[in-house]
Amino acid sequence: MAPDLLARIKRQGAVPRHIAIIMDGNGRWARERHLPRPLGHRAGMKAVREVVEGAIAAGVEVLTLFAFSEENWQRPPTEISALMELLEEYIAAEVEELRQQGVRVHVLGDRARLGPGARAAVERVEWETRDGARLVLNLCISYSSRAEIARAARLLAEDVLKGTKRLEEIDEEAVQERLYTAPWRDPDLLIRTSGERRLSNFLLWQLAYTELYITPLLWPDVTRRELFEAILDYQRRDRRFGKVTV
Ligand code: FPP
Repeated sequence: MAPDLLARIKRQGAVPRHIAIIMDGNGRWARERHLPRPLGHRAGMKAVREVVEGAIAAGVEVLTLFAFSEENWQRPPTEISALMELLEEYIAAEVEELRQQGVRVHVLGDRARLGPGARAAVERVEWETRDGARLVLNLCISYSSRAEIARAARLLAEDVLKGTKRLEEIDEEAVQERLYTAPWRDPDLLIRTSGERRLSNFLLWQLAYTELYITPLLWPDVTRRELFEAILDYQRRDRRFGKVTV
């Protein structure tokens, strides 16, 4: 449970209200064990449970996980179907627990590309957890940030063509309101696992002033302890948002 770290977090001050995570390294975790890649993703499901429970314990309000990118559609069909099956399995196995924990799940991304089974599972978890008030869990699936921004631009152009928006009214807020993440504040902290130092087309707009935390751990090895370490590290940062502190 890592209660020692949790107590330090509570002592140290403000907890990041929104944490985003690039869950990376499932494939390498499997390769190190001479296992097929899908077993790495399966092991990664346990880490999802860990961070959801850790986020609730720490008092995080929004957790946004990058589960499947638009680029991931280019992986071998066997890996794609394994990931989709895992998503359905995760939802079937966890929906009741999530509901009881007060987690509200949203799925962000181009869900038109999902197969009927995955789409039905996604709609089910969103519906059944709709009253959750403790933690918002955003699962980014078939998501890419550039596609999200292009979609926002298209929606704005439509409004202008329809005459419901004037060109001069297109500002940062107007774009922000048309992103999948419109209901929530920008992430305070981004965690990336497996030591890679890139954003991989994830939340490019929303991460403008987000603090970054990169851990060498591979995603399946992540426990709530790692989440707490990241929060403690965040609490020591001096966030200036481009301004100066006196
Ligand atoms: C990146 O590892 C991870 C993914 C593409 C999928 C993430 C999925 C999960 C954690 C499991 C299921 C999650 C839910 C929400 C049901 P990689 O395959 O790119 O690893 P590599 O870089 O080592 O090859």
